[in-house]
Amino acid sequence: MNGKNILLAVSGGIAVYKAVALTSKLTQAGANVKVMMTRHAQEFVPPLSFQVLSRNDVYTDTFDEKDSGVVAHINLADWADLVLVAPATANMIGKMANGIADDMVTTTLLATEAPVWVAPAMNVHMMNHPAVVRNITQLYKDGVRFIEPDEGYLACGYVGRGRLEEPEKIVAHIRRFFSEDNKSLLGKNVLVTAGPTREKIDPVRYLTNRSTGKMGFQVAEQAYLKGAHVTLVTTVKDRPIPDAVETVYVDSAEEMYQAVTTRAEKQDAFVMTAAVADYTPLHVADQKIKKQPGDTALEMTRTKDILAEIGARKKARQVVIGFAAETENVAENAKRKLETKQADYIVANDVSKDGAGFGTDTNIVTFYGADGSVEDFPLLEKREVAEKITAKIVEKLG
Ligand code: CTP
Repeated sequence: MNGKNILLAVSGGIAVYKAVALTSKLTQAGANVKVMMTRHAQEFVPPLSFQVLSRNDVYTDTFDEKDSGVVAHINLADWADLVLVAPATANMIGKMANGIADDMVTTTLLATEAPVWVAPAMNVHMMNHPAVVRNITQLYKDGVRFIEPDEGYLACGYVGRGRLEEPEKIVAHIRRFFSEDNKSLLGKNVLVTAGPTREKIDPVRYLTNRSTGKMGFQVAEQAYLKGAHVTLVTTVKDRPIPDAVETVYVDSAEEMYQAVTTRAEKQDAFVMTAAVADYTPLHVADQKIKKQPGDTALEMTRTKDILAEIGARKKARQVVIGFAAETENVAENAKRKLETKQADYIVANDVSKDGAGFGTDTNIVTFYGADGSVEDFPLLEKREVAEKITAKIVEKLG
């Protein structure tokens, strides 16, 4: 979104406060933001809030020409790479659908040739009213894109559909829109596993490993930006991801196995970056285990191999990519995993090398393909590795 000009049109509903956060998130994402407000929007939040966060003048009146050298609404309409109407009230949607231009916002909306996105926010009954449904249908036909409202508690006391989508999610939609290659995985379902599993010993202890989930989160983001519907199955709760990615939080290897296998059928591709425990305590103590004199041992049992299970079930249309975290004999181990897990690719990395493996922002990987191909890559940002992995998916899915 860096350097993109986004014109935010704010109409008058209680969700205007969220448009303030949205302005901040858009500018943080690198966009140039200009805001225009209807008269009623200003009843909720003064223009000054938007002016400070966007670091630009706020436009409220068609006849308040700030620069005599240009006609404000035409200039703004031409400046925009994208116009975002958020929140869009039923009244605003009605005016847009009927080409009414009776204030700064609606006049500019008629004058722009930029793509227009609308994020509605209103009471659930208003949302379902035939007139509103009719207007939304008309706008769809006119090429306007919608960011569907969320379900939840509405300011009017009702619970239902009509709440303005969260600012983070709106930003994610727009980022994807501006991403250069946002169609190569359009309509495809990609499942990614990420992070270390946690195997419970007792209520206060567990076994885990040094994985942080960075690689998997990057893969999820890249697949999302390429247009895929992404399901991220992860143990990592404190790392931001595009909110439009469907996230399933799990803890143990068994939970991850269940989460993946129950969602496997509809997937087109799997990328298994998670560091899954190979063993789990045979018994989980109900109470904290108290120390005893002398040494002790923990009896462990094997977990299920999620990647191997997915590889065994793999349909011809599905692509399966696994990782191999190694500290020695990288090529040999990766090729063995490629075979035993029946993957299309194994992305191998020597986690003992500087700049590779757990917790770093970079990785040094080699792709081993079931077709016998071997591709070595230099030190790359994990984002770049994720880019290469998703490019492989695009290539395999044709
Ligand atoms: N994997 C998995 N389920 C497991 C173990 C591993 O899905 N129970 C996946 C990982 O997500 C990774 C690949 O299998 O994509 C290889 O994981 P790795 O830990 O490198 O290898 P292991 O299968 O555990 O084999 P080894 O212990 O011999 O290294």
